[in-house]
This record gives sequence, structure tokens and C-alpha cells, in this order.
Amino acid sequence: MKVDDVAAVVRVHLASFLGFFLSFLGPRFLSLFYSGICFAPEGIGFVYLNNAGVPAGFVAGTSNPGGFYSRLLKRDWLKFALASIVPVLKKPSVIGRVARAVYHPADNPIGDDVAGLFSLGVLPELQGTSAGKKLVRAFLDEAKKKGCTKVFLTTDRDNNGAVNSFYAKLGFSLERQDVTPEGRRMNEYWISLSGEVL
Ligand SMILES: CC(C)(COP(=O)(O)OP(=O)(O)OC[C@H]1O[C@@H](n2cnc3c(N)ncnc32)[C@H](O)[C@@H]1OP(=O)(O)O)[C@@H](O)C(=O)NCCC(=O)NCCS
Repeated sequence: MKVDDVAAVVRVHLASFLGFFLSFLGPRFLSLFYSGICFAPEGIGFVYLNNAGVPAGFVAGTSNPGGFYSRLLKRDWLKFALASIVPVLKKPSVIGRVARAVYHPADNPIGDDVAGLFSLGVLPELQGTSAGKKLVRAFLDEAKKKGCTKVFLTTDRDNNGAVNSFYAKLGFSLERQDVTPEGRRMNEYWISLSGEVL
């Protein structure tokens, strides 16, 4: 994923994550988030190109997830603050959630050998064509190159059977279950990079 891809990645995100928190924060916020992944030395991002050479899928994360959101938001705090004005006016309670990312950076697992896969999306018309699988494979390969031995991710436990089946099929194992302060029940998956079967 390069900075030039970010506008297309944001479009794919909005089309594939309907009703999710980051989507609610809007295209400006998402654009800062994915640009941050591109600029960070520890960022890992790939796009899946359609026949016209336009990104129709993406995966994004980092080889240093501990405190990643906090570092990102603090580095570009003014831009993030400006991008948040409209969503916060629409729904003031989102402030608490953004503040948690900044002030509780240990929410992500920490360790030199851990990578975090934060976001994966494929346009609805290309889902089921192995695009997601190829993106995850590229992510795991890159994490391995960066010296990581394990990758984690979280996804919703409820009304999300397709995504949970997708990760299980790719060899991820469900290691932990959690409930966010907003009451979302989450599944945490891990995969060891020595034994992944994709
Ligand atoms: C999740 C997502 C990225 C999967 O991408 P995809 O391109 O549709 O998936 P693939 O075609 O690569 O499927 C890979 C494997 O998972 C399996 N799989 C995919 N969807 C499945 C489902 N609903 N149930 C069971 N297995 C499924 C496929 O059969 C395939 O197995 P195979 O290799 O044996 O054929 C895509 O559906 C998506 O963008 N969803 C919306 C956004 C989202 O929820 N992202 C994840 C948030 S953490």
C-alpha cells in the first residue's frame, strides 16, 4: 500500500465495513489512519488490484502494535482532531472511544515478535475470489520478513460468522474473547508464522 493508494483504500473500507466505528469517523479520518500505516516504518499494508489496476481490497497493520494507535494519533493530533469534528458533533460519545486509543495504548499485545493485523477489506463484488486470502498471505509474509513470529487480530464475535470462518480456515486460532467498554463481544485470533497453513 502506497500513499497514492489511500483514497481507493478508503473507498474499499467504506464499502466493506458498513456500520463500523472507523467508517463512522469518515473518509478524512480513515485517510489519515491509512496514510499513517504507509508512513510508519513498522506499518504493513498491501492492496489487491482489480483487472483495471485499481485497489479493490487491502490489508493493513503493523509489526509493532503496542501503542500504535497512540503514537499515530499523537503524531498527527491536530489533523485527527479536525477530521473528528463532524463525527463528534453527530455522536459525541465517540470521543471516549478515540481517547481510549490514545491513553490506553497497552490495549494491543506488546512484544518485538508480534504483528497486529488491524484491517482487511475486499469490495463486495470481489469477495469469495481468494482476494482476502492473498492479502492475508502477503501480510503474514511481510510480518515474518520484519522479524515477527506471531500475528494477532480481533474481530466481532456476533453476527460475523463469515469472517470468523474465513480466519479459522486460514489457520488462525481463537485464543481469547473479550467485551469492549461499548459492549461489543470480540474474538482475538493468533497465528504462528512458523506453522501457518494458507
Ligand atoms: C473477510 C473478507 C476480507 C474475506 O475476503 P474474501 O476475498 O471474500 O475471502 P476469500 O475468497 O479469500 O476466502 C478465503 C477462504 O475463506 C473461505 N471463506 C470465505 N468466506 C467464507 C464464509 N462466509 N464461510 C466459510 N468460509 C469462507 C473461502 O471459502 C476460502 O476458502 P478456500 O481457500 O478453501 O476456497 C471479505 O469477505 C470482506 O472484506 N469482508 C468485509 C470486511 C470484513 O469484515 N473484514 C474483516 C474484518 S477483521
